[in-house]
Amino acid sequence: MWGAGGHGKVIVDALLARECWEVVAILDDDIHRAGRNVLGFTVRYAAGGLSELMNQLDFEGVAVAIGDNYVRHRKFEEVRARGLAPVGVVHPSAHVSRHVELGEGVVILAGATVTPGAVLEDNVCVNTAASVDHDNHLGKSCHIFPKATLTGTVRVGDFAYVGSGAIVTPNRVIHKYSYVGAGAVVVKDVAEGVVVAGVPAEEIGRQPNRPE
Ligand SMILES: CC(C)(COP(=O)(O)OP(=O)(O)OC[C@H]1O[C@@H](n2cnc3c(N)ncnc32)[C@H](O)[C@@H]1OP(=O)(O)O)[C@@H](O)C(=O)NCCC(=O)NCCS
Repeated sequence: MWGAGGHGKVIVDALLARECWEVVAILDDDIHRAGRNVLGFTVRYAAGGLSELMNQLDFEGVAVAIGDNYVRHRKFEEVRARGLAPVGVVHPSAHVSRHVELGEGVVILAGATVTPGAVLEDNVCVNTAASVDHDNHLGKSCHIFPKATLTGTVRVGDFAYVGSGAIVTPNRVIHKYSYVGAGAVVVKDVAEGVVVAGVPAEEIGRQPNRPE
């Protein structure tokens, strides 16, 4: 697993609950986290990153456990470039319909719901108790934060965030790189790269970051 912050703790918990992977190491790029204990695993730091770890240990895949969409995306691409599998995990308490499409490295955490017809592209994270309803389309590396509710036929663009407890009404489009604030109620489409908040949600700023 790559990433030993708070999100990492939640992901390793989900991996252990699923019992289909054996975790051999937790890697972090921050030397100050080296030696810390995360749910029984000692965090490793490798100056040479993933390639150094590959020389030391035998493993098949990497779960990228980083909440920031852009950083998670870069790590996801690096895992793939090195011929490793980006590991996805669905917590056993999540309800995920059989009639959904899940890309590589998708994470769906405890108590989340994903209903029929939903498409989740690579590296999407559906966080704790979030609800993704029928026929949603979640673009690559977006993040749906805890208890957010996406009603029917919502589209979320690549790298967008939907904040904790936000509600998105049916058929809305959250364009790429945008950020919906915690508790917002989205009643109209959200333009590319903007931050919206409030009830009803209105633009409060712009997202400066771009993965490119
Ligand atoms: C919307 C958000 C991204 C804005 O962050 P920011 O750009 O740092 O904005 P600031 O904190 O500087 O706030 C700017 C203004 O917007 C208001 N604001 C911020 N977030 C708001 C929200 N969710 N709802 C309503 N108003 C909000 C602030 O009160 C402030 O108002 P003011 O200018 O009148 O004082 C952030 O507040 C947010 O809601 N993030 C979601 C986090 C989350 O769900 N995390 C889950 C992790 S698991």
